[in-house]
Amino acid sequence: MSAATPQEQVHQWAGMFDTLSASYDQSGVPFFTTIAQGLVERLAPRPGERAADLGAGRGAATFPLAEAVGPEGRVDALDVAPGMVRLTSEAVAARGLDHVRVLHGDASDPSLPPASYDVVASSLVLFFLPQPEDALPRWLDLLDEGGRLGVATFRPWSGTWKAIEDLFAEYDHDTGRPATTSMPDVYATDEGVEGLLRDAGAADVRTDALRVAVPFDDVEQWRVWSLGTAMRGLWMRAPEEKHEEILARVADLLDADRGPDGRSRLHVDIRYTLGRRA
Ligand SMILES: C[S@@+](CC[C@H](N)C(=O)[O-])C[C@H]1O[C@@H](n2cnc3c(N)ncnc32)[C@H](O)[C@@H]1O
Repeated sequence: MSAATPQEQVHQWAGMFDTLSASYDQSGVPFFTTIAQGLVERLAPRPGERAADLGAGRGAATFPLAEAVGPEGRVDALDVAPGMVRLTSEAVAARGLDHVRVLHGDASDPSLPPASYDVVASSLVLFFLPQPEDALPRWLDLLDEGGRLGVATFRPWSGTWKAIEDLFAEYDHDTGRPATTSMPDVYATDEGVEGLLRDAGAADVRTDALRVAVPFDDVEQWRVWSLGTAMRGLWMRAPEEKHEEILARVADLLDADRGPDGRSRLHVDIRYTLGRRA
């Protein structure tokens, strides 16, 4: 992975997410939507405002943004994976959202008009960019004076989530595909991500956090959900003949973490880093 050029890395992720696009965020388990809604709430878009959603996926942030700005506003949603762009465009058309455009492009250097947005949102995307320090000043440039930027990233894994990541690491073999859920060190701390935004020139940088409890009835529901997330990459890097064994071990981990309602809950800590264009 590290030997690949930034352009090659973007291309690899585009391919990975393109493969994933049909199943991405379609398992019915509340996850991406919860996280993206939290981001949109913190950016507080108002009716009539102009918003950009960078790395839009299947629209987890796009749709709440579209609702908040209303038909008097507009939303430009950008993604590098053609499948995401196609499927989200179809969903936008099906909902009759004429004020939303879904565009294909690389968020590292978005070809969107500068100083044209009140809000730039990006949920669970920054850590996929090979050079976030180059991308973030460009994202700020998209904003009008005083416009708000918000990015959602993961805080380090903990508890059962971390145990599952560690379990997959035992089976990891190099397929030439990116190891999807490992993240550069800068994402280990809130200060690291705040520093990225400050160095890019953002003002009033701050962090807010949300602990999300992702509920699962059983390991099969977890399996389907995991295949519709970037965790699919972990499955792809584990030998096929080991998949049953992995599933049995994950079932044990989930069983050990059941709530009073009998459902398992995977906890993940989301970091919202917020700032504005000075
Ligand atoms: C984890 S998903 C998040 C999608 C959506 N924001 C959500 O919250 O569900 C990451 C998304 O970023 C997109 N992506 C990755 N690298 C990108 C890049 N360089 N430019 C634009 N989109 C990118 C992927 O195609 C994928 O749709």
